Amino acid sequence: MIVGSSGSGKTTLLNMIGLLDRATSGTILIDGVDTSTLNDNQLASFRNSKLGFIFQFSNLLTDLTVLENVLLPRKIHGALEGAEEEAKTLLKTVGLESQFNKFGNKVSGGQAQRVAITRALINKPAIVLADEPTGSLDSISAETTVQLLKSLNRKLNQTFVIITHERPQFGEVDKVITVKDGRIIEGELETSMA
Ligand SMILES: Nc1ncnc2c1ncn2[C@@H]1O[C@H](COP(=O)(O)OP(=O)(O)OP(=O)(O)O)[C@@H](O)[C@H]1O
Ligand SMILES: [Mg+2]
Repeated sequence: MIVGSSGSGKTTLLNMIGLLDRATSGTILIDGVDTSTLNDNQLASFRNSKLGFIFQFSNLLTDLTVLENVLLPRKIHGALEGAEEEAKTLLKTVGLESQFNKFGNKVSGGQAQRVAITRALINKPAIVLADEPTGSLDSISAETTVQLLKSLNRKLNQTFVIITHERPQFGEVDKVITVKDGRIIEGELETSMA
């Protein structure tokens, strides 16, 4: 979990870990790969296969169905075999079995966020990065989303890096990193992946 006051640099840090922004100095090692050596194409492919993203707003494409939204990163990745079944299984896990064919703008905010979580997981990323995933949700949807993220973390053995202003919502977590004025003042960023 990454915490810190507004403007402290949390999103900046997450966007660098997520290879959306390049660091002007230092190196970002993911799974032993020095990402500063990758060119733009390699970066895009690395991002698509190793990382999943969840943002504050679910950013679903409104002219695609729930199922199509989830399948999109997989289409970009190119490994479509069995993808639809996997997407349906994941959507069932998050309680959306009856919503497959609804369009992106016809589901509630909480449901849309669960679709976004599913979309982040479809390529089985080693790391899921979430920037205030419950920030736009009412308290009940937020609680459901938190429980979902925690159970997926245990079940799928994936690393979740979550920025939140609502630390207590998450209860017990493995590690907390506090950012202040662009620096980590508590916790270690370095982590090993199983
Ligand atoms: N593209 C940018 N160019 C220059 N400065 C930026 C840029 N994006 C953010 N900043 C600045 O960097 C600092 C950290 O911003 P960042 O968005 O990482 O904060 P944050 O911790 O995520 O805040 P919040 O909790 O409000 O989302 C802020 O002072 C911000 O104004
Ligand atoms: Mg931010």
